[in-house]
Amino acid sequence: MTITQDSSAPLVVVVGVTGNQGGSVVKALSESDKSYRIRGLTRDTTKPTARALAAAGVQLVAVALTSENAAAAREAFKAADIVFVVTNYWEHLDVNREVAEGKMLIDAAKAVGIGLFIWSGLESIINVSHGKYPNVHHFNGKGEITEYGRQSGIPFVNVQSGWYAVNFWKLDGMKPTRVEDGTYVLALPVGPQTLLPVIDTPNDYGLFVREAIESPEFGPGSEVLTSGEDITIGDMISQLAEITGKKIVYARISDGDFMTATGLPHRIALEVLESLKYHEECGYYAGKTTADSRRHLARPTRTWSDFVRSTDWSSVLV
Ligand SMILES: NC(=O)c1ccc[n+]([C@@H]2O[C@H](COP(=O)([O-])OP(=O)(O)OC[C@H]3O[C@@H](n4cnc5c(N)ncnc54)[C@H](OP(=O)(O)O)[C@@H]3O)[C@@H](O)[C@H]2O)c1
Repeated sequence: MTITQDSSAPLVVVVGVTGNQGGSVVKALSESDKSYRIRGLTRDTTKPTARALAAAGVQLVAVALTSENAAAAREAFKAADIVFVVTNYWEHLDVNREVAEGKMLIDAAKAVGIGLFIWSGLESIINVSHGKYPNVHHFNGKGEITEYGRQSGIPFVNVQSGWYAVNFWKLDGMKPTRVEDGTYVLALPVGPQTLLPVIDTPNDYGLFVREAIESPEFGPGSEVLTSGEDITIGDMISQLAEITGKKIVYARISDGDFMTATGLPHRIALEVLESLKYHEECGYYAGKTTADSRRHLARPTRTWSDFVRSTDWSSVLV
C-alpha cells in the first residue's frame, strides 16, 4: 500500500470511490511505487466499502454530488492535484441529470484550479451512428460531458470504460439461460462476431487511470480506451463453455425477443438493444483500437478467460 498522508504526495480525489471504477482507481494507485494521498467521495461514509477504504488510508468525505450541491463539490475538490470522475446513469436513468452533474463537476474542478481531470467517458452513439441509434443515453450523455470537458480548458483526459465482463454474469437478457435439455443458451440480437472491449472493471479499470497519471504518453487532451482484451461474443461463449464444462450455445434472436428477455421497461430495453446494434455495426470505441492504451500499463490485465476462472458461475450455470 502506498496511500500516504504525507502532504508532499499528490492529492487524488476519487468520485464514486465505493463503486467499481472508483474502487479500482484506489486499488491501482495503492499498487503504485509512487505515493498518493487519496480523498474518496461517497454519500455514506459508514457503509462497509467506505469503512474498508478508510482503514486502508483513504480520506473519506461525505457529499452528494448533485447539481444543487456545486459548492460542496468545489469544497470536496479543494487542494486536489488530480480528480477522477465517474457518473452513474443507471442509478436514476435520467440523461439530463447525468449531463448536468458531469458539467457541474467539471466547473467545480475548473473553479479550484485542478491539475488533471480524469473523466470516465463513453462515445456519443447518436453522433457516431449519424443518428441511426439515438436512444443510447448512457453513452450519448457521457459523450456530451466529454465535449464540455474538452472545451472547458481544464487539463482533461478521457479514460473510456470498456464493456464490463460481469455483464454476462449478472444482467438479465445478457447471461446464459438454461433450456429444457439442461444445456444453456446465450441469446442476443447481434452476430457472434461482434467484438467487445471486455474488462474486469474492479481489477483493471484503475490501471488505465494510473497510466493516464503516470505515463507521459497520456497527457491532458488524450484519450485512453480500456479493455482487458478485445474479444468476440462467440469466442467468449466458447471459452465460457470450455472452462466451466457446460454446454452453452450462442443464438441470434430478434430485437423484440431480446427486449422482452431483458425484463426492462421498453425505453430502457430499447437503449440496451441499440447499444448492442451499435457495437456490432460501428464498434464499441467507434472503430478505434485499444492497443495503444494498453502499452504502458503497470501490470497485465485480466482476459475474459481469467475473469471466467476467477468467478463463481454456480448461480448462472446451475
Ligand atoms: N456496465 C458496463 O458495461 C459499463 C461500461 C462502461 C461504462 N459504464 C458506466 O459506469 C457507470 C457506473 O460506474 P460504476 O460501475 O463504478 O458504478 P457503481 O459501482 O454502481 O458505483 C457508483 C458510485 O458512484 C457514487 N455516486 C453515485 N451517485 C452519487 C452522487 N450523487 N454523489 C456522490 N456519489 C455518487 C456511488 O457512491 P455512494 O453510493 O457510496 O454514495 C458509488 O461509489 C455508469 O454510468 C455506466 O454507464 C458501465
